[in-house]
Amino acid sequence: MTTDVGTTSNSAQASYPPSAAFTATANAGPELQAAADADRLAFWAEQAGRLDWDRDFDEVLDWSGAPVAKWFVGGKLNVAYNCVDRHVEAGHGDQVAIHWVGEPGDSRDITYAQLKDEVCRAANTLTALGLKAGDRVAIYMPMVPEAIVSMLACARLGITHSVVFAGFSAAALRSRVDDAEAKLVITTDGQWRRGQAAPLKFAVDEALGSGADRAPSVEHVLVVRRTGLDVEWTTGRDLWWDETVGTASPEHACESFDAEHPLFLLYTSGTTGKPKGIVHTSGGYLTQAAYTHHYVFDHKPGQDVYWCTADIGWVTGHTYIVYGPLANRATQIVYEGTPNTPDEHRHFEVIEKYKVSIYYIAPTLVRTFMKWGRDIPDAHDLSSLRLLGSVGEPINPEAWRWYRGVIGGGRCPIVDTWWQTETGGIMLSPLPGITATKPGSAMAPLPGISCKVVDDNARDVPHGEQGYLVLDQPWPGMLRGIWGDMDRYRETYWSRYAEQGWYFAGDGAKYDEDGDVWVLGRVDDVMNVSGHRISTSEVESALVGHPAVAEAAVVGASDETTGQGIVAFVILLEGVENTGDTLISELKAQVSTDISPIAKPREITVVPELPKTRSGKIMRRLLRDVAEGRELGDTSTLVDPAVVEALRAKR
Ligand code: WT7
Repeated sequence: MTTDVGTTSNSAQASYPPSAAFTATANAGPELQAAADADRLAFWAEQAGRLDWDRDFDEVLDWSGAPVAKWFVGGKLNVAYNCVDRHVEAGHGDQVAIHWVGEPGDSRDITYAQLKDEVCRAANTLTALGLKAGDRVAIYMPMVPEAIVSMLACARLGITHSVVFAGFSAAALRSRVDDAEAKLVITTDGQWRRGQAAPLKFAVDEALGSGADRAPSVEHVLVVRRTGLDVEWTTGRDLWWDETVGTASPEHACESFDAEHPLFLLYTSGTTGKPKGIVHTSGGYLTQAAYTHHYVFDHKPGQDVYWCTADIGWVTGHTYIVYGPLANRATQIVYEGTPNTPDEHRHFEVIEKYKVSIYYIAPTLVRTFMKWGRDIPDAHDLSSLRLLGSVGEPINPEAWRWYRGVIGGGRCPIVDTWWQTETGGIMLSPLPGITATKPGSAMAPLPGISCKVVDDNARDVPHGEQGYLVLDQPWPGMLRGIWGDMDRYRETYWSRYAEQGWYFAGDGAKYDEDGDVWVLGRVDDVMNVSGHRISTSEVESALVGHPAVAEAAVVGASDETTGQGIVAFVILLEGVENTGDTLISELKAQVSTDISPIAKPREITVVPELPKTRSGKIMRRLLRDVAEGRELGDTSTLVDPAVVEALRAKR
């Protein structure tokens, strides 16, 4: 095994060209970019050929209703058929689709034939419950196979799923269920987390309420037994999965749906308090999912063992656990738990045991592994790995080199993939076998994708200077709107460069001297904590929801492990006693219950006043300076500069 390069000692190397051996068998070749450059729409039409269509499309792109695109107009397909049935029909029924690894150490191997039976049983059950194409179903589940089966069963029936991360609170689930008017919630009795069985159905009961407070749209709750924890039961509403899906027929003939049929909603944080239900449709989304998964991960069906460690509660889980890999007939690992249960060896044991060849994680996990020390990965045979991926936030060059050297043995290309919930699939990434990668850069848009880095006046910024990342051409996997709020869709993404008709991504970026793109992070009030997107105002409104709090201001401060950490400043209501640590823990608990433990502030400081401009805007920039312990920048626009000094004295 070669361990030639990539440790910190090699920090001088600025660029890592692909090895000749990798290039020789790479899926991508130079002809890919050439084809996209020659005729972008013809290129995408060809990529759509990765899918089985029941009716061919008449037109590749209809952009006449911009900013709402229609891709593969007139085409019809069934997404679940493309992800499951067609592989069985092609003779691959015995290939393992999912090596599932449970947190307590149990495991299941599910072949494509078995997956097909399960998806059909679930589809028959949903139909028996009266659900039809166009209805919405909420999925609130940990990483169990039934979660994936549920998503595919919805897709098979043209039901739009809305997966809600099982770490979200009952309140967060309720607002999403209400917004989407979901008729069914699929959940589990409980979930395994760090060696403990924690209740989950309980949160669903709390979310759905009763009597006058009942979630009006929900007719049924379907419950998978996972932990054996006791649950409360609402007769008539609640059903066990094993008693319904488990006894349903595995025969189900699927119907095809329009390319623009809504496949799923996924709620994500914006700059205001209310999460946005991002709408994704079928044909274009699946085309981009399959195309990017094939080339970016150099995936070879029947040979690779692929592992994306995301949760299905996030878009990464949708596109790179469910839709992309399954459309491409991957064999993949799905792991239920945290990376340090029962101990820090867990991921490396899985890689060793299943001979994982493609490993896709977030930079925060790389930094966590670094903290644990290289002895842990070094104790395992990781030689099956041949490609590493990164997603969720900018990866710092030091972590990149460590990832390449220690995990990748110096031989694996790293794909740093930039994309968003809204983009549906990867947009910027090196192409393995072609691109000479640079630690920390997502490099360039993929063939068929186009971006720019521009200033406020839509002019290209000079190399080396910071600008905004925009997408200047529509792409197949793009969102089609915000559920129930198309005005917000136009305003959030399309108003900034309305004249040019460009999509504003909300990220800062720069070109380096070679013209390669470096994404620098959010330029709006959205924080990125361990690759999770959390809005400052969402956390602020949770804090203000506590009876002691008059006002709150939240900022993301840089954090060695999680990228950003949440730092809050609160003003108490007149006459309220500051109980110190008791109050702080109450406030943290308030955020956990309102949103999720992942949104819990790292630090909360009670302050007498917040720094505000004359127009009454909180100066977050100053708060960030305070939180990060920096010299304060310009304070001249403050009403009362003394406020900042008082703030610092408090910490
Ligand atoms: C935001 C999108 C894409 C799936 C996971 C997050 C940041 C994502 C990168 C990267 C720099 C990145 C951006 C983006 N981001 N990947 N490779 N380099 N930044 O999806 O929750 O929709 O968040 O994550 O800031 O806007 P998301």
